[in-house]
Amino acid sequence: MLNQYNKIAHFYTGLSRLVFGNQLLKIQQELTTHLPTDGKLLILGGGNGKILPLIYQHAPCLSINYVEASSTMIQLAKKRAPNQQKITFHHIDVLDYCHKHDHIYAGFFLDLFHEKQIEELILKLENIKSETTWYIADFQLNRNTKYQLIRTIQLKATILFFRIATQHSIKHLPNIDTLFIQMKYAPKTETKGYPFIFCEVFKKQF
Ligand SMILES: C[S@@+](CC[C@H](N)C(=O)[O-])C[C@H]1O[C@@H](n2cnc3c(N)ncnc32)[C@H](O)[C@@H]1O
Repeated sequence: MLNQYNKIAHFYTGLSRLVFGNQLLKIQQELTTHLPTDGKLLILGGGNGKILPLIYQHAPCLSINYVEASSTMIQLAKKRAPNQQKITFHHIDVLDYCHKHDHIYAGFFLDLFHEKQIEELILKLENIKSETTWYIADFQLNRNTKYQLIRTIQLKATILFFRIATQHSIKHLPNIDTLFIQMKYAPKTETKGYPFIFCEVFKKQF
């Protein structure tokens, strides 16, 4: 659905800093270093565009398709995008976006969907003729997460906030990495030891 994030768009960065400090941006900064330096990149739910200068720093020649459902987030992202960055903004629900890409970036986005929807998104957006690569940063609790109770409360509070503020229907975190592996993707990076967040590059295997 369009524009569900409009009312929180101006506070989004402040809120995420309050709960998670700088970690969400820091981990994405690391993820951008794995991106290709030219060609096309599809960004899903890019939000207010904080990631754009970081991508430009690493890959100034990359062409970006920026899919974002919130018009306010897009306005903010346009202000943040470096002048020379090759970027096309698409104000559209990702469920209605059908163009296939070889490189797809999703930072703290797939957790907004049920596992079945994520599977459908992967099938719809991956390019079956090439080895599509996905660049993912997202929340995830696992057996190795330290301070399980505190992290669980932190994440449950975040999910509850987004359910109230943006009417999302998700009640639990989808198991994103298992899903990619089931869909014949292989992790290409070493996952760093961030508590309750994973950051991974998945490449399709044939
Ligand atoms: C949790 S925020 C993450 C924003 C950004 N990736 C970041 O890390 O700061 C999710 C973003 O996805 C957008 N979004 C939510 N549902 C969407 C959908 N169905 N299609 C496209 N964008 C969507 C929201 O408007 C919001 O900007």
